[in-house]
Amino acid sequence: MKFVTLTCSLRSGSVNAAIASTLPELAPEGVVFEALGSPGEFPHYSMDTEMAGFPAAVVAMAEQIKQADGLVIITPEYNHSIPGLLKNALDWLSRVNPQPLAGKPVLIQSASPGKLGGVRAQMHLRQILGYFDAKVLNKPEAMIGDVGHKVIDGVLVDEDTKRFLTRQLVAFTEFAGH
Ligand code: FNR
Repeated sequence: MKFVTLTCSLRSGSVNAAIASTLPELAPEGVVFEALGSPGEFPHYSMDTEMAGFPAAVVAMAEQIKQADGLVIITPEYNHSIPGLLKNALDWLSRVNPQPLAGKPVLIQSASPGKLGGVRAQMHLRQILGYFDAKVLNKPEAMIGDVGHKVIDGVLVDEDTKRFLTRQLVAFTEFAGH
């Protein structure tokens, strides 16, 4: 089974990127991960740009998602919602025909130095993905709060977090297999 990962921070020391890079060692045997291209390569969505031709980065990401058994979105929370980077990527992907997230199993994870771990971003993301007809895993959820004590020097060191991410990946693998 192959899952693609979408990391929604461009920051060099991103804690969300650190979580994304830990997933292969936590997932059930037989699951492989492939990182999607950076959504930072997408231009700001404009219908004029779309009419001139879909950017190659958008076409490539849509194809990678289409070929995968599931998509894992790992995102920070910005101002109680999703980062513009992620919204822009979703806006572009929504314009691809056939829309690559329709019926696609999706797993959401978020990490933040705050106590709530990005829960408000996740709620907004779930609402958006509903309109995509994506098949989003509802539980177990993974909001990683207080992440400054859990990711040190780019490495997830918190054993409790590793355990619940492992449980979530087991559930998602089963969910994506049906
Ligand atoms: C934040 N941050 C933040 N955190 C949070 O828990 N709730 C929030 O609403 C916000 N809002 C917010 C807005 C903006 C513009 C920035 C730059 C940051 C903090 C954020 O979670 C923190 O910077 C994370 O480390 C970002 O994740 P990466 O980039 O390390 O993966």
